[in-house]
Amino acid sequence: MAQFSSSFLDELISRTDLVEVIARHVELKPSGSNNMVGLCPFHHEKTPSFSVSVDKQMYYCFGCGKGGNAYRFLMEHDGYPFPEAVEYLANKAGMPMPEARTVNPKEEARKKQAYHLLDQVASVFSRTLQADEGKQAKAYFAQRKLPDSIIQRYQLGFAPAGYGFMQRCFGSETHTLQQLESIGLLVKNERGYADRFRGRVMFPIRNKRGQVVGFGGRIMGDGEPKYLNSPETDFYHKSDLLYAYSEHRESIRKHKMLVVVEGYMDVLAMAAFDLPYALAPLGTAITEQQLSHILRLHGEPVFCFDGDRAGRQAAWRAIERMLPILKTEHAPKFLYLPDGEDPDTLLQKEGKNAFEKRLKHDAQPMLNTWIQGLKNIAGSGAEGRARMAKKADQMLSKMQDDYLRQAWQVEIENISGVMLKQTKPTQYMSKPRQTSTRKMAPRLAVTPMTHEQFMAALLQKPSRFQLLPEDAFHFFVDSNPIFPIYTRAFSLAGDDENTTFDIAAQLMREFPDTDIARWVNLPKVEDEAFQMLLRDMHLAYLKAQLSQTENLSVRIKLQAELKALQAELKALKPTN
Ligand code: CTP
Ligand code: MN
Repeated sequence: MAQFSSSFLDELISRTDLVEVIARHVELKPSGSNNMVGLCPFHHEKTPSFSVSVDKQMYYCFGCGKGGNAYRFLMEHDGYPFPEAVEYLANKAGMPMPEARTVNPKEEARKKQAYHLLDQVASVFSRTLQADEGKQAKAYFAQRKLPDSIIQRYQLGFAPAGYGFMQRCFGSETHTLQQLESIGLLVKNERGYADRFRGRVMFPIRNKRGQVVGFGGRIMGDGEPKYLNSPETDFYHKSDLLYAYSEHRESIRKHKMLVVVEGYMDVLAMAAFDLPYALAPLGTAITEQQLSHILRLHGEPVFCFDGDRAGRQAAWRAIERMLPILKTEHAPKFLYLPDGEDPDTLLQKEGKNAFEKRLKHDAQPMLNTWIQGLKNIAGSGAEGRARMAKKADQMLSKMQDDYLRQAWQVEIENISGVMLKQTKPTQYMSKPRQTSTRKMAPRLAVTPMTHEQFMAALLQKPSRFQLLPEDAFHFFVDSNPIFPIYTRAFSLAGDDENTTFDIAAQLMREFPDTDIARWVNLPKVEDEAFQMLLRDMHLAYLKAQLSQTENLSVRIKLQAELKALQAELKALKPTN
């Protein structure tokens, strides 16, 4: 198990200037002799509550509670996986990376090459657009009123028609072809490799760190499909990416504006009109992951939808998906555009000022949009009001923020004249891929501390998942927030190829607001301590079961198990 030694990590932190790391994104002002303060980059605020302690080399936001050291900042803010945050700081500090650090050197080299290749492909498309070959594509962009400055800035490009372009640019070595296939640029068929993108204008899509991970391609004029996107690859997860995120992150903070639109061309048209703060999902309905990236970047985004039926449905889906992650400090708004228009067509028609006016004056608070949607679904009369209350109750149960839920509940009660049932939030679970069919155990007395230790032990050494007794599933109750993470980690660990960092990186993607990074970085849990933890948890589990059952024969069985386990523990733990 490759790990950075804690002495290396500490040494690196001591040679790093956290203020410098943070100052790239946040304007910091001195406060007192040892602190710097600024506007928090993790949530939207008008007065600074984000502070950086110079001597402790830690940051903390009194507004949203985010805090940590330089590693944590790079991971949470810039989206670096842990090892790459370390590498970044080591490069900066001029510290050589420890020899044995590599998790899986082959795998890392492969990823590096893939990113490099993706970047080269973006350059090639962009050069082709500027070459003679790209004349028609340039004319297309001109007809769509995209100036050269935008073409440069977003590195728009052109993939010529016909086959063999990738080979012409990169050669035909098997290794290269396989790589191009793995990053989604070539498609393999019976006759060999074929270019995926042909005769299309190209939009590179970047991850949070600004690395090209995939492409969208639009046909020039009419034809099917209008847009073609990269397939899912190791790097391109369309449900987790937003178009123009890395390009617009800073200007969103600067303008204190974020507009969510449906298409690439809407993002770019807005940028061309000097409104460089739009983001778009990648051709699919917006996901909860994307919504959580959006809300973390700016708490008051405006969602633009077409005013037609499809647009209203899309807005409804966005509302449903946002409910579980919505907090009192958020204030999303919804803007319906005139039928058949999108931000691009509106800007061309009525210009910047009129469009900005719409954003400012016509966007409705999410609550209003939700209520309108409920009314549309429920219909009229007493039955309609009952249906409205019922549907609202169901949806409110998804909300995690108590205060917000109660406030919204009162609104619905007032409108419908129906008292809602006292809704209790169902514990939020981000869809564990693997669920146990067995009945879940009752809530148990295992401390959160023990849970964390346990997760740390498993993540630090994924082979430990194989050592778990069958009962281990019961150690986690389904109401424990760790449960979905645990089950997901369990299924990821099933793939022997996955290292700690693969698993942790994937988990961090899927469960953005959790402590995964911290668990991985907890002091190393030794094998013996792990075994002890297992027994502790088993013990707590048996005790909890005992407290829940009246059935005599079950109690006898549980008590026997408990006794045996206690004896085992006594023998192992030195009593003092
Ligand atoms: N999209 C897609 N595949 C399609 C059609 C659309 O992936 N066949 C995605 C694209 O990301 C596109 C977005 O959905 O940007 C919105 O689609 P649509 O409204 O049809 O297109 P516009 O963005 O208006 O594109 P254009 O203005 O170029 O016609
Ligand atoms: Mn359009």
